[in-house]
Amino acid sequence: MANSSPPISIRTRATAAFGIRYPIVQGGLARIARAELAAAVSEAGGLGQIAVAGVAEPEALRAEIRKAKSLTSQPFSVNFPMGYLKMDDLIELAAEERVAAMSFTGGDPSRHLRRLEGSGITALVLVSGPEQAKKAEQGGAHVLAVVGYEGGGHIGRTDLTTLVGTPLVVRSVGIPVLAGGGIADGYGLAAALALGAEGVEVGTRFIAVKETRAHQNYKDLVVRSGGQDTVVVKKTLRTPGRAVNNSWSRRILEAEAAGESPEVILAMVKADSNERGILHGDVDSSLLWLGQSAALVDDVPTAGELIARMVAQAHAASVRLARTMHQLG
Ligand SMILES: Cc1cc2nc3c(=O)[nH]c(=O)nc-3n(C[C@H](O)[C@H](O)[C@H](O)COP(=O)(O)O)c2cc1C
Repeated sequence: MANSSPPISIRTRATAAFGIRYPIVQGGLARIARAELAAAVSEAGGLGQIAVAGVAEPEALRAEIRKAKSLTSQPFSVNFPMGYLKMDDLIELAAEERVAAMSFTGGDPSRHLRRLEGSGITALVLVSGPEQAKKAEQGGAHVLAVVGYEGGGHIGRTDLTTLVGTPLVVRSVGIPVLAGGGIADGYGLAAALALGAEGVEVGTRFIAVKETRAHQNYKDLVVRSGGQDTVVVKKTLRTPGRAVNNSWSRRILEAEAAGESPEVILAMVKADSNERGILHGDVDSSLLWLGQSAALVDDVPTAGELIARMVAQAHAASVRLARTMHQLG
């Protein structure tokens, strides 16, 4: 190690459940997070994830999983959005390939959780409040991630912020909870641990690292975005998501305000509207998910540099807090 200070350890029930060194989970990032990113995050001590959204064919998923395995021997996860055709086959395939973990978002995963019982695969379920959290725990989830309103991508229907939603979910269940939404550095990680979370799920910050498939224009946009540069679309479909405030998301908001039908709105949020920005760099006429934490992003490091920096910042924050607080008498 180039750094002469002793390595920092952050141990929680979440690091034990996933078999990882640091409680930093890279969020599933639809069409952005593939084998290179997942492997780089896991290799650096976090939990990397391959996002299934946008991987159409089972054999393409198998190839991604095998590629990640060729790049790291550390545990990684595969992220499944619920409610899509073929999901059963893809989950079966990932189980066959013996991935260390799977995560589930956007629907009820109970059937899949039952399928994973006794398989040794750690099941992470995304929730947006205590009711969903209790249900997921009863259904067999091993770890939960609660994602607050500040977060990028789909944020659930509760509107709870990370600062309120995290302790509420922590109080309502017995299994370890990750906090997500608005966390882009080690200060956020320390804050999440202070709230009772046992780790973090980070999405927006991981768009702007070297190993993602996101077009350079999208990474540059993350770096230059401020706290007011996102909007929440799709509220009328009851699947709200936080995205870049650009001409495309404003068109969606106008259509929603005008009372357009779900079919019209759905046509505006299809995969190709997302791919135009991610793959072709058209960051104005595309639907691009982005959280408020983009305001905290200033550079495009490697995933490994980012994780090392987050761990050092979390440690610095804990030292600063310990120095600030004194028991009198
Ligand atoms: C570009 C983008 C795409 C996302 N796609 C997915 C996805 O496919 N599956 C998923 O579980 N979460 C997805 N999310 C949510 C993240 O996994 C994570 O929960 C969220 O980004 C955390 O909030 P943050 O953006 O403030 O870090 C996405 C988020 C972003 C920003």
